[in-house]
Parts: sequence; C-alpha cells; structure tokens
Amino acid sequence: MKKPFFFYLFLFCSIASFSRTENPLIPIPSSVTKQPGSFSLHNNLVIGINSDEKNVVFVAGQLAKELSTPTGFKVSVNKNIAAANIRLQLLKTRDNDLGDEGYKLSVSQKTIIISANKAAGLFYGTQTLLQLLPKEIENKSVVKNISWKVSCVEITDQPRFAWRGLMFDVSRHFFGKKDVEDFIDNMVKYKFNLLHLHLTDDEGWRVEIKSLPRLTSVGAWNVKRVGTFGDFSKPTPDEPKNYGGFFTQEDIKEIVRYAKERFVNILPEVDIPGHSLAAIVSYPELSCTPGAENYQVRSGEKIINWQHGLVALVDNTICPANEKVYPFLDKVFTELAQLFPFEYIHIGGDECAKNFWEKSDAVKQLMQKEGLKTMEEVQSYFEKRVEKIVESKGKKVIGWDEILEGGLAPNAAVMSWRGMKGGIAAAKMGHEVVMSPTDFVYLDLMQGDRIIEPPVYGTMLLKKVYSFEPVPDSVDAKLIKGGQANLWTEQIYNTRHMQYMLWPRALAVAECLWSAKQNKNWDSFTKRTESMFERMDVEHVKYARSMFDPVFEVKRDASNELQIILSTEVNGLDIHYSFDNSNPDNFYPKYSTPLSVPKDASMIKVVTYRDGKQIGRQIDMPIATLKSRLPKK
Ligand code: ACM
Repeated sequence: MKKPFFFYLFLFCSIASFSRTENPLIPIPSSVTKQPGSFSLHNNLVIGINSDEKNVVFVAGQLAKELSTPTGFKVSVNKNIAAANIRLQLLKTRDNDLGDEGYKLSVSQKTIIISANKAAGLFYGTQTLLQLLPKEIENKSVVKNISWKVSCVEITDQPRFAWRGLMFDVSRHFFGKKDVEDFIDNMVKYKFNLLHLHLTDDEGWRVEIKSLPRLTSVGAWNVKRVGTFGDFSKPTPDEPKNYGGFFTQEDIKEIVRYAKERFVNILPEVDIPGHSLAAIVSYPELSCTPGAENYQVRSGEKIINWQHGLVALVDNTICPANEKVYPFLDKVFTELAQLFPFEYIHIGGDECAKNFWEKSDAVKQLMQKEGLKTMEEVQSYFEKRVEKIVESKGKKVIGWDEILEGGLAPNAAVMSWRGMKGGIAAAKMGHEVVMSPTDFVYLDLMQGDRIIEPPVYGTMLLKKVYSFEPVPDSVDAKLIKGGQANLWTEQIYNTRHMQYMLWPRALAVAECLWSAKQNKNWDSFTKRTESMFERMDVEHVKYARSMFDPVFEVKRDASNELQIILSTEVNGLDIHYSFDNSNPDNFYPKYSTPLSVPKDASMIKVVTYRDGKQIGRQIDMPIATLKSRLPKK
C-alpha cells in the first residue's frame, strides 16, 4: 500500500531529530534507521536465547539483571526464543559483514531482536539496547514512575578495529580487584574489549609470582605521599612502607574470569628493563649496580633527571648483562602465561635509562662478546632474549616503541606511544602495531587549562582525542590492530579521580576505535556525550565537564603586546569576560575577537554560557600567567 505523505514526513523528522536528543549512542553505530512506535518494558519480560553456549547464557542473564534491577519487573531467560519478547539469537548462517563482534538490533512494538554471529556481538547489542533506554536504567535500585520505552529502530553495527584498548596503571598507585572489575563494567558499555594492566613499575610490583615472593612482600609497598608526585621527599629508612598492595593469583584469576565473561581480554605488562625499581629492591642481584641493596621502592621522589635526556639518579633497570636476570624472567613469564589467557604479554621497554649501563663492566663485557655497539643495541639484545622466553611460554610479545631501537625482536608487536612514528616504522617492517600516541590518547594529561585542572605534565583536550586516527596513510592498514588510550596514575590517588580523568575522553577513544570513520562528527559526539553525563550521574560515575570551559590562547599583536584568543571546544557556547576582577555573567561583554589587555588590568575572568545558563567553570586567569605563555621573542 502506498504510504501517505505524513508517514514520510514523520519518518524524516524522526531521523533528523535522532542524533540531537534521542538515542544518544556512543560509539555511534554503523547504521541506524528509526521507525515509528516504541517497545515498552513490562513485568514478566522473557529473554529468549537459541544456544546453550555459556557466553550466550551469561549475556542473557546480565541483560535480565540490568533490566529488572531498576524497573522492578520480573525478567526471565528461556530457550523458547520464538515466544520471547527480547530475543538474543546466534545466527545459524554467518553474516560476514558482522564479523565476530557485530550485531543487528531490531526494536519493534512487540519484540526486540538482537542477532549476531557470536556471543560477543549479542553482548554489544545489549549494550546498545541499554543506551536506548531511559538513563534511569543505570539505577542500582528500583525507580518508580518511569516510562520504560525504547523507540523502534533498526541498527546494524560492527567495530572498525579488533583491538579497542584502555591501559590502567595499577602500579604507580594500586587499584584493587573491585576497582578493576568496576573499570571493566564501565569500559564495556562503550564496547572496549581490551584492558592493559600496567602491573609493574618503580612504585610497585602488583602481581603475585609464587616462585619469587619478595616481588610482592617487598616490592608492592612504599610510603604514602600525597601532593605533587615526582617532587615528594625521599622516605627515611625508618618510615613504614605500608602503602600499596598487589593482586594475589586468585585475584587475577577472578579478574580474568570477570573480564572474559564481558568479552574483555587482559594484557598484562611487566615493564622491563627500565621502570624496574620495585623488582630491583626485591631482588638487588638483578641490577648491574653495586649498592642496589640500599634502594627503596619509589614513593614519588625524584629518581630520574629529565632535564638532560633520560638520566637515572638511582639505577631502576634490570641488567641485561647479568645471567641471573633471565631465569628470573623465565619464572615471571611462566606464571604470568598461566594466569593470563590472552595471546600477548607486554614487556614494557620504555624510558630505560642507560647511564648506569654505560658505567657497568658487565655491560661492557657483554657488548664486546656480542658485538653490540650502542646502548640501544644492548637493550635490543635484552628484548630478543625476553621474546624467546615469552614465546617459550606460548605467548607473543608486545612492547612500547623503544623496543624498535637497536633492532626489533623478530616477532614483536609494537605499541606506539611516542607519536605514531614508531608504529609506522614497525608496520613498514611487517610487524603488528597498536597505536597509542601520547599526543592523542594519553588520558593522564590535563583535559583543560592547567590553571583549573589538577596539574600533570601536559594537556590533552577532548577534541584532540576525538581527532585520533589510528591508521596513517603510509602503512598497510591490516597491520594496525587498533588503538588504545593510556591512563597512567602517578597523579591519580583514588577511583573518583581515575573516573574523572577517564570520562569523557575514553568515550572519544571508544568512538574512534569502534565507529566508521565517516560516521564521526564532533558536534553530534559532544551532544551524545552530554547525554552520557546524565547516565553517569545516575551511575555515580565521575567525569570531567572541562569541554565546556573556555580555552585560552595567546599571541603578540603588531606592537608586541599580548592578545588573548578565547574559544570553546563545544560549539555554540557564548564566552563572557571581565578585566575588572568582578565575576562575569551573561550580561558581561561577549567575546568575539582577540582581546587586548586594558592598561593595568591584572586578571581576566572568563565564563561560558549556553542558552542563558552558565555551562562552563569560570576561569580567573592572571595576565602575568598569559604573558608567561607567550612564545619567546
Ligand atoms: C610510556 O608512556 N612511558 C609508555
């Protein structure tokens, strides 16, 4: 039957409004077609499955829990799929377009059908479904008087990359099993599938190795300091070392199981040969340097001088020229390989200071014996031996891009962090690559102006993160396994701040890694992010609203005087300012062109508004600070 004009008008309006207010999905699916009508959740909902596969049963059970907890409705799971309201169906004939993680989600007035080739696809379909429901679906107890409706829609969706990672540094500050499980719960909402645990560093060894008990009885503990990490006072020998902790092997097994149920692989990292002070303190014989037995696990005091390259003040490296190191590593990797089922083990390799090696007779002898000409070649010799050990446990090696220097081990994959260039070089040599560049996806960096954010080394605005493109033009795209954002925790002392640093920037990363490149759109993303903020409020997850804050840039005008350029990351905000020390509101001057500073003004105060309401934080910026940011003449 020919449909009336109004039907098409309705359909057009529904689609047009889709990305603005309704169904704010992150990451944006490959294709979304809104249909008229809605499905209402109700009591005695039945979720039907067509498989006994453990993973499918788990996905259905999780969905039942997630739907019943906030609604109070009874939701059951059975195998009578044809009669069920919500159907999770594994396809009998593979749909190649969906791959192993894609899904189709069809919401009609009577049924919700999620179909996929594999259980992972069903899981991601349920994550999308949850985002389609009112935000109250995130409540952990029953909420009354909510219309539990899902608008009818047809979605087809599959990921762009198979490696969609987040790195969580549990070494600098220890985060326990429950924190990691919560982290996993939050990451899978946005379809991340890989959790890289940075398990060892100068500040703590965080995984029990039964054959090397001192790694955790000694190496997991330091002295608690708070403030600006890196500048802390060195603990005196009598200060109790009771801050830290570690995962027992039972903890790891539980985390791995928890992750696997949610289709997350765990990549364990043991960061060697640098960043190894916790190991050295536990077993000083691993060092090339006499006196290592007097070292202590770092509590945030200065141990590296970055002023002149990378100069270690205490030797935090394990010694490539020390034959005791390799049986030690054999023990470590034997146990890790048994604990972590993922095919890769991360061997670190970054920021290894060489100044103690340069002084070491053992290293000099090794260089002579092996014909090694540079310290990079010494590190490469070490990495190649480590690769052999790791491979002997049935695992593949991945490391930070420093492992390229001096010659890459034959089969190693590279995690490119110092920009993309290491990844490009590795891919050109035919090696697999995960792109994780500091200048796009380092989530430990500040997400707004340093005058208002908790201070760290640098800044990484949300918009920059959203522009992350993991595949450079010049390489074989097949070798780029995907991307990963890194959350280092030197300056992160608690879970609330961990969440603040993660969200919303991890949302941007999720969309870069899952969604088709052509579907990315900054304005749409920021609107959908605002909707996610409302959901995070319900979930009690902390996030940063820095994307609404004013952004400062400075330049010199023709007479060499300071000019202040203001902007916002989110489009459509008004910027108001004062130079008279009073707090501006939306009746104050509105910024439109670069500002010169009135004579004698010592402060500019800036605030953002949208639709007459304050949306960003007011920033009080001393003129002297802006002057100090001018490029040197
Ligand atoms: C790193 O950020 N040092 C890998």
